[in-house]
Amino acid sequence: MNKEHLSRRNLLKFIGGSSVTLSTLSPISLMTGCETIKNKKKNSHLPSFKDDVVLADELSYDLLISWGDPINQSEVFGFNNDHINLIPLNDKEVIMWVNHEYHHPLFVGGWERTKENIDMERALVGGSILKLKKAANNWQVVLNDPMNKGVRGDTKIPFHNDIKIKGSKNAIGTIANCSGGKTPWNTFLTCEENYHLFYGDYHYQTKSFTPPKNGGWNSIYPHPPEHYGWVVEVNPFNDETKKLISLGRFAHESATCHKTKDGRVVVYSGDDKEDEFIYKFISKTNDSLDEGVLYCADTINGRWLPLDLELSPELKKVFDSQLDVVTYARESAKILGATPQNRPEDIEIHPKTGEIFVALTNNKKKGDFHGSILKIQENNNDPGSLTFESETFLLGGLESNISCPDNMAFDQNANLWITTDISGKALGTAKYKKFGNNGLFVIPSSGEHQGEVIQVASAPIDAEFTGPCFSPDQKELFLSVQHPGEMTKDLKSPTSTWPNREIPKPSVIVIKGKYLESFTQR
Ligand code: FEO
Ligand code: CA
Ligand code: CA
Repeated sequence: MNKEHLSRRNLLKFIGGSSVTLSTLSPISLMTGCETIKNKKKNSHLPSFKDDVVLADELSYDLLISWGDPINQSEVFGFNNDHINLIPLNDKEVIMWVNHEYHHPLFVGGWERTKENIDMERALVGGSILKLKKAANNWQVVLNDPMNKGVRGDTKIPFHNDIKIKGSKNAIGTIANCSGGKTPWNTFLTCEENYHLFYGDYHYQTKSFTPPKNGGWNSIYPHPPEHYGWVVEVNPFNDETKKLISLGRFAHESATCHKTKDGRVVVYSGDDKEDEFIYKFISKTNDSLDEGVLYCADTINGRWLPLDLELSPELKKVFDSQLDVVTYARESAKILGATPQNRPEDIEIHPKTGEIFVALTNNKKKGDFHGSILKIQENNNDPGSLTFESETFLLGGLESNISCPDNMAFDQNANLWITTDISGKALGTAKYKKFGNNGLFVIPSSGEHQGEVIQVASAPIDAEFTGPCFSPDQKELFLSVQHPGEMTKDLKSPTSTWPNREIPKPSVIVIKGKYLESFTQR
């Protein structure tokens, strides 16, 4: 259903008609102002325009690591940290993966596209592997631990199974690493999203090239755009990395793993661009993502359509090989009739019902300024199914108190945590003023406030919170604070000075306290 056609009354009917789970938003919270007022009283200092991480009562945060902090003898923590994922080693130690999505030339070496500047930028994007230890109730990075290392914009990374793309079996670097995931065999998945900002993009059917805008790297390193836009698998234990070609090439936001009823692995991924698509990949075997079939979503008819030359013969009219089908996945999905979406961001799976939640952040061109969350229910609740039903779970906007949902995380009690991404340019302007800076929100799955959208934290100026990730016991929430001060034009007067009241620094924080535990430790 087209969101613009959903009146408020229809939305209530829509939500009221869904199954009795977390997805049944309390009609009271949506229909009357009283619950909203109650929320405001509860955290009356939120939303906020302060240049700080402003938290609900009974919460505090520690700064874990910031851009530029050393992680070993030769590398520093990268820029614009995003997705966070953890592999627990024991009660007190974890291996953490953190994405570094993109560089802001002004804060690195400057806008001039010299080799020196670009090399500095290449060393700050990609991702970081860090060993963390909990000592005296605080998580700390174990500086110089042998596991600490960067996988960066200049790291040589092979395509899986020796596949050759544009004449090479390897890509130089991983870039635009936005969200990600973790496989059932404990490797990290990092998603290459806005690759066009670095190397531009090539369009198969029109045979045309769109160069990157300011800040691109192709003038010094003319690598083919086809080497980017993939999901990269990183094994932190043996340093093996590979670009997973079968999962397709587009602006991957996330790579959220699930299992079919017969044990194969399913990876859900959204393409974060206006009118692009939702995808899922079903693996051939239970222990590898190298082989399998990629599908795109037709949410009008509830069908997953295979991006496969043999299963979808119409693709043969355009493409010569299966490699081209997945390399130009956007064009393939369009040919198949996938349903254009309002910028699919994170995808998360309800831990109790198995329903798939997709954040559709906004689509201003279509008049969707506040976004929504779509809920997909696979047929027979089997992620291996090729049919599904879907409906809008939540509409962003003034009534729901949330705008531009982006990253999400379910805790063990199925409370849904959401971070927002109102763009730096839009923050504080008429349509968005009520929401303050970007924030962290929770929708409780039970209790007095079940189904309400409650703001938990507000980000510093120009920043968004990204990569929400709970500690193994869920007593802490790791969170990225990405791009504080990104609207800065002059380093002498930055728009934000978080966290140290100097130049702004993207950082990972750890949120903890009784209020968090009131949700996660019930
Ligand atoms: Fe990098 Fe779609 O956010
Ligand atoms: Ca995002
Ligand atoms: Ca976003």
